Amino acid sequence: MNSLFRRLNEQRRTAVAPSLLSADFSCLEREIRAVEDAGADFLHLDVMDGAFVPNITFGPMIVTAIAKIARIPLISHLMVINPDKHIESFVKAGSALVSFHWEACGSGHADVIEKIHGLGCDAGLAINPDTPLSSVEHLLSDIDCLLVMTVFPGFGGQELIAGAIAKIGEADRLRKKKGHRFVIEVDGGIKPDNAWRVREEGARIIVAGTAVFKCADYAKAIAAMRG
Ligand code: DX5
Ligand code: ZN
Repeated sequence: MNSLFRRLNEQRRTAVAPSLLSADFSCLEREIRAVEDAGADFLHLDVMDGAFVPNITFGPMIVTAIAKIARIPLISHLMVINPDKHIESFVKAGSALVSFHWEACGSGHADVIEKIHGLGCDAGLAINPDTPLSSVEHLLSDIDCLLVMTVFPGFGGQELIAGAIAKIGEADRLRKKKGHRFVIEVDGGIKPDNAWRVREEGARIIVAGTAVFKCADYAKAIAAMRG
């Protein structure tokens, strides 16, 4: 399978996925159009359930509404317990990639990945800053995207945890050594002045909430993140 996301490894270019978490939800369509016009490649949608993480954001209904107006593909980042129960609704809502957390289910990760693929969607696996790569090594051949968290999920606007950066390079080296095709997405605290560090380690999709939406010039922020 040569999915949209796996193909990013062949394109020598960093994609930028603004996280709508920091957008102004009172004028969401305008915000989406603005980041699209500013050169965003994907929209990153942070789904939080108030259980896996302390915060609550939105569910598939809002993703469906966003899909109706977005012109670029949607990445749903599920920060929810029992992700298997919710996969289908987020695929049907129009996600191009659905990522779930390794920490959110005790076992059955391979089944969740299979379920996402069975629904015709790309599958991503997210890992918290304190989850070692070795925990997910056996799943790396199956996924389209490894989402390396550089903050503990739950809130936008946190400081990047520098200790999590080395894992990006570790994942990229392992990917090349084993011939895995997953793309590396990095999320949390990424700003124009530290984006080069994650790019250098092998990140192909950079997520940025605050750095884009709290900047007066979205195009400038996105270009700076892409490098
Ligand atoms: C954190 C989310 C991130 C976050 C990114 O739980 O998964 O996507 O909103 O926002 P910044 O770029 O502000 O850290
Ligand atoms: Zn996210």
